[in-house]
Amino acid sequence: MTTLILLHIPVLTAEVLAIIQPEKGGFFIDATTGTAGHSLAMLAASKNEIKLLCLDRDQSSLEEARNRLNDFSGQTTFREGDFRDLKLLAGSAGFDAPDGIIYDLGLSSYLLNEAERGFSFQREGPLDMRFNRAEGEPASKLLNDLSAEELADVLYQYGEIRESRRLAARIKEAADGDAVSTTTQLAEISRRVIRRHGKSDPATRVFQALRIAVNRELESLEISLPQAVEILKPGGRLAIISYHSLEDRIVKNFLKQNEQLRVITKKPVRPGREEVVANPASRSAKLRGAVKI
Ligand SMILES: C[S@@+](CC[C@H](N)C(=O)[O-])C[C@H]1O[C@@H](n2cnc3c(N)ncnc32)[C@H](O)[C@@H]1O
Repeated sequence: MTTLILLHIPVLTAEVLAIIQPEKGGFFIDATTGTAGHSLAMLAASKNEIKLLCLDRDQSSLEEARNRLNDFSGQTTFREGDFRDLKLLAGSAGFDAPDGIIYDLGLSSYLLNEAERGFSFQREGPLDMRFNRAEGEPASKLLNDLSAEELADVLYQYGEIRESRRLAARIKEAADGDAVSTTTQLAEISRRVIRRHGKSDPATRVFQALRIAVNRELESLEISLPQAVEILKPGGRLAIISYHSLEDRIVKNFLKQNEQLRVITKKPVRPGREEVVANPASRSAKLRGAVKI
């Protein structure tokens, strides 16, 4: 039996290529390779002229990426790791002065579809949500370890959930001493407590908030961006796609305040209607770009 692997549809691809300009050749880093959508686009646009370092925190995504980029094996290097160690990972792979770096933050559809990883509220699975299962603690442990007050802060801060206190209390009560341990348990509690606004499932923001906390995503981003600027060549180009307002705020302020950068996207680039219809996962994407002076 063959298993169907759902590849992630890359977001704002043409716009990323316009910022990164791989056709000029050189050394490039995909800091969030996933299943290689942007990597493939960069390699295909550059007529054998580039070397690409493919990083990801998730081992299974990198394996998919490696298979998908098989035709470019002479041009690609793969490294599993967190982009908070960007300088170290890039240096050890011979990419110490790259011409361009792309970050496409957050979660891929590939990981979302792997039920046992616990990222999806639509699939029954253990509440894990770690990008790297060899590191840190699963979401179920976080739910157990945090006090109701701390959990409410996570839900409010990362998920903008107004009912955060009530939801945190319900999660703790439901567990009655043991952690809520499955995706569907958490989704059901979330739907009971949070009022639905518009079409999106109330569990969406709960899962997003926990994922951000479990993987310390904002911290990784804050630690990584200065390293990206440090290693980029003068004239080197940086593209960052974010999907969450707190992420975008970090990116926006960093780009604006860094004296070594010239921002080339006055406003964030957003997907057009056609892209959102074809790929709803792109709807909250914001792309920002800059050049190292
Ligand atoms: C939106 S997906 C990237 C999709 C990819 N651009 C494509 O087109 O297929 C984000 C990827 O970043 C990875 N990731 C998230 N945080 C990371 C971090 N701190 N360091 C390295 N990779 C990370 C995730 O594992 C995921 O595969």
